[in-house]
Amino acid sequence: MRLRERKIVVTGGPTREWLDPVRFISNPSSGKMGVALADESLRRARETVFIHGPIDASLVSNKKYRVVPVETTEDMLKAVKSEIEEGAVVVMAAAPADFTPAEKSAQKIKKTGMRISIEFARTPDILKELSGMRHDGLIRNLFTVGFAAETDNLDSYALGKLADKNLDMICLNDVSRRGAGFGADTNIITIFMKDGSRLELPMMSKRDAAARIFDEIENRLPRYLA
Ligand code: PMT
Repeated sequence: MRLRERKIVVTGGPTREWLDPVRFISNPSSGKMGVALADESLRRARETVFIHGPIDASLVSNKKYRVVPVETTEDMLKAVKSEIEEGAVVVMAAAPADFTPAEKSAQKIKKTGMRISIEFARTPDILKELSGMRHDGLIRNLFTVGFAAETDNLDSYALGKLADKNLDMICLNDVSRRGAGFGADTNIITIFMKDGSRLELPMMSKRDAAARIFDEIENRLPRYLA
C-alpha cells in the first residue's frame, strides 16, 4: 500500500497537566512542526488527521484536514488510539507532558509556606502503547515515527528511543541549537531509521523539513510494510 492510500495521524503541540483549577505544567511546544507535517501529509495521503494540544488557534484555522484538539497526555492517547487503523502512519511531533500531578486539587492551592512539594505520576507513553498494540496483534501494518527533542548525547538518546518505543523512524532535533526545536520556524533534524541508516538535514524551514521527512517515509514504506 502506497502513502496515497494510507491514513496519516500527525500529533503536535504540548499537552497540559493541571495541578489545580488555575495552574498547570506544560512545555513550550508551539505546534509549528506538527502543523507543517499535517500540511505536507494532506498533499500525500488518503486522509490526514491532526491531533494537537493547546496551541495558537490561527495555526489550524481553515485547514482541509480534520483537526482534533486535546488537552492532557491521556486525552492525546485516547484520540490517537481512536484514529489509528490498519496501515496507518503515525507521526508523533507532539511534546506530551511526561508527568501529571499524582493528585489534582479541586481548589486553588494556597500560598502558605515558602516551599511546596507536589508528587507527580508518569503519564502514559503514547508511542509505547502503540508498540504494545502492535505486539499484541491489535493493529497491523502501523508505521510509527517519533521525534526526539534532546540537548546532549544526541544520537545515543535518539537511538535509545527508537529501540525502546519500537519505532520505524525517529527525527532527532537538537533543541539547544539556534533555529531548531521549540517555537522556531526552522528546524535541524537528523533522521534515524530502524535499519540503522541515518540522514542529517541542514537547517531549513519546518515546512521543508516536513517534506524531507515524508520523502523518507515514502521511500521506506514499501520495504517495511506490505
Ligand atoms: O511544536 P514546535 O514548537 O514546532 O516544536 C517542535 C518539537 C521540538 C516539539 C518537535 O520537533 C519534537 O521534538 N517533538 C517531540 C518532543 C518530545 O516530547 O520528545 P521526547 O523525547 O520527550 O519524546 C520522544 C517521542 O515520544 C516523541 O515522538 C513524543 O511525541 C513521544 N511521546 C512522549 C511522551 C509521551 N508520554 N508519549 C509519547 O508518545
